[in-house]
Amino acid sequence: MRIAVYPGSFDPITNGHVDIIERASRVFDKVIVGVLRNRNKEPLFSASERVKLAELATEHLENVSVESFDGLLVEFARQHKAAVIIKGLRTVNDFEYEFQMALLNKSLDSECETMFMMTNSKYSYISSSMVKELAEYKGNLEGIVPSQIIQYIKDKYEH
Ligand code: COA
Repeated sequence: MRIAVYPGSFDPITNGHVDIIERASRVFDKVIVGVLRNRNKEPLFSASERVKLAELATEHLENVSVESFDGLLVEFARQHKAAVIIKGLRTVNDFEYEFQMALLNKSLDSECETMFMMTNSKYSYISSSMVKELAEYKGNLEGIVPSQIIQYIKDKYEH
């Protein structure tokens, strides 16, 4: 069974992430979306909220599951018997950092392969920070995040 993990903070998950997950789910038998719990940046959504939003966004994909994790990504991959880490590349700016991470993860676990997928050009400008800024100023989130999670994001900014 070919298992892959797709890690990130997903604060919140966007259509760019979902596009990568959908495509990875066609290549691998199982894709585990790994939601990082510990983070330097204080997240807007708690880990359990981020997991819930990612689950809602991927409920149409049978071979995809979502879990939160702490600590090293290679450990999370090993625990789930995943030989592959999937990362999305949006622009050349993503490349240098991702290249470093892939080499670091390889040095931590020589059996761990990182595979990159080019983000769909429709979504290459999207980031989770941009989604939060848009939501804060009541911008339209249609087409940027999955429709089933729009209300959850809006609710965060309702006081
Ligand atoms: N479409 C849209 N946006 C995307 C995207 C895509 N396909 N891919 C990434 N992004 C965005 C994210 O939303 C995020 O936006 P933000 O900065 O506004 O929040 C940004 O790009 C960075 O995303 P990503 O590269 O996934 O980084 P991350 O911070 O979300 O997650 C981990 C990074 C979890 C993969 C990494 O920190 C990790 O592996 N941590 C575990 C500890 C570890 O093993 N470290 C390495 C050894 S020390």
